[in-house]
Amino acid sequence: MCGIVGYIGKRQAYPVLIGGLHRLEYRGYDSAGVALLSDTDQLNVYKAKGKVSELEAVASEKDCSGTMGIAHTRWATHGGPSTKNAHPHVSESGNLTLVHNGIIENYAVLREQLQKRGMHFQSETDTEVLVQLIEYVQTSLGLSLEAAVQAALQRVIGAYAIVVLDRRTPNRLVAARKSSPMVVGIGEDGKEFFVASDASPIAEYTKQMVYLKDEEIVVCERDKELRVYTLTGENVPVEVKKVELDLTMLDKGGFPHFMLKEIFDQPSVLQDCMRGRVLPEHGRVILSAVTDHRERLIKARRFIIVSCGTSWHAGLIGKQLIEHFCKIPVEVEYASEFRYRDPVIYPDDVVMAISQSGETADTLAAIELARKAGAFVFGVVNAVGSSIARNTDTGTYIHVGPEIGVASTKAFTGQVCVLTMLALTLGEAKGTIDKKEYQAVFDELQLIPQKIERILEQNDRIAVLSKIFTYAHNFLYLGRGWNYPVALEGALKLKEISYIHAEGYPAAEMKHGPIALIDQEMPVVFIATHHQLHEKIISNMQEVKSRNGRIIAIITEGDEVVKQMVSEYIEVPDTLACLAPLLSVIPLQLLAYHVAVQKGLNVDQPRNLAKSVTVE
Ligand code: F6R
Repeated sequence: MCGIVGYIGKRQAYPVLIGGLHRLEYRGYDSAGVALLSDTDQLNVYKAKGKVSELEAVASEKDCSGTMGIAHTRWATHGGPSTKNAHPHVSESGNLTLVHNGIIENYAVLREQLQKRGMHFQSETDTEVLVQLIEYVQTSLGLSLEAAVQAALQRVIGAYAIVVLDRRTPNRLVAARKSSPMVVGIGEDGKEFFVASDASPIAEYTKQMVYLKDEEIVVCERDKELRVYTLTGENVPVEVKKVELDLTMLDKGGFPHFMLKEIFDQPSVLQDCMRGRVLPEHGRVILSAVTDHRERLIKARRFIIVSCGTSWHAGLIGKQLIEHFCKIPVEVEYASEFRYRDPVIYPDDVVMAISQSGETADTLAAIELARKAGAFVFGVVNAVGSSIARNTDTGTYIHVGPEIGVASTKAFTGQVCVLTMLALTLGEAKGTIDKKEYQAVFDELQLIPQKIERILEQNDRIAVLSKIFTYAHNFLYLGRGWNYPVALEGALKLKEISYIHAEGYPAAEMKHGPIALIDQEMPVVFIATHHQLHEKIISNMQEVKSRNGRIIAIITEGDEVVKQMVSEYIEVPDTLACLAPLLSVIPLQLLAYHVAVQKGLNVDQPRNLAKSVTVE
């Protein structure tokens, strides 16, 4: 996820900005940049693809003087990772420079309008549109920097946190936010200011923080009081909060591990994933990949999903979604098996590659095979500009931000969210989805982030529960229907970070073998939300109970029947059956996390595993 730091005051800005960017590295990024207004009022902008250390190498021989500047770490969304696309972006005249977090949804329209008025663009980003728009408004209406920012933002649809610097007004920085966080730190004697996307890069300088609210603009002026306005120009009283942060935890955004941070990221990143796609004002989901390739997708004879690990589990849910809503047969293949199996692929097949990293060697090879057979290739990828993203005919990014913990968490829910949006869009285009059902899923999908929040509130309880089970050498995870892939995912999470052997099974298969394993030593996790086949799952629980197995049940809130039966349960809010995986997987992620923590293991970098499996 992108990160922002800005400074204006009496110190030299460069060390503050670079130090701040290092503090933001925990968010993950692919390029970095800094803009400084030098002691001779020269605007110096330095950028580099890769790490902050590479930016430092670029800047090392250059003029880094100045007491005012802005800096950024970028995680690509519009346009791949490159120096050209890195922030800060500079306006046509070279007067304004800007850093931005978020996504500008109407950037294409704005860009076209500005091009018609003679403006030129150097990058593929939505951010450059913002800086050009502010300049255009400022020049054509003769406005101050803050008034131009205010006027320009009224024409923008989307999410943003921005900081703008105008080299003609070396006394001020202007920042604004909407749906993307932004905090201002008030430094020594109230006359120096730090701006950042979260408190971590500035906490070592000040505890006095002002958290901007949505659609607020702040003017940080040297030697003056901070001023905050709404987008419509009304003054807002400045509310200063005292924030004490444990600096040792800052690189993980205040969480002890990346994995826990990423589990807690899920409500907000799923909103990012749906942003500009689930459109309440139109009552519809719109995916540009489906709009652009409608005929090809509607006429698909079959979908073949190729992926590995957690992404393969998301694919199993995708199969159910696409078959149910679009009435297209779907096969889900391990990419590693598919690539060597001489599979039958028809030119009217759609091969869908699902991958968080976009670099998994087996998935790439499966795509190659599909291409040779003339199939249409659709990517569901997180890393923008990755090899898989570049090798597909079209696709949909999941936009959940960089995933750093080796065990995949938010990428899984992001993938399931995209697959749900795809099934709705395609089902509507094909006319195979019932209108009432479309509406129900559309409405409920938007409630999922807040329902995940409610599950996360049980984190402490799940931590206590996990202590009971650290003794175990084996776990069984059982689920049916929509929750069967969740059972597989829960087992994978546990085994990869806690090194406890765990198996996921369709619950009804238990009596065909695994039941022999059950005794008082064996924890069995039932994913037993109150959807299809609930009664049958309850019978399976009875079978485990009567063999003294130790049950942990994931149940729908208020399921008194199961609560009476088992001593350990975790409740999740009610939802539609097809969306149940988005909720029922959350307690399993937390359970695996806490068991591993209890065992004192390296949760973020478990032994023998790599985040990106670029070898077969
Ligand atoms: C599990 C995990 C792996 C990945 C798999 C595929 O937590 O992270 O199983 O899901 O290696 O990786 P991607 O999705 O990057 O292709």
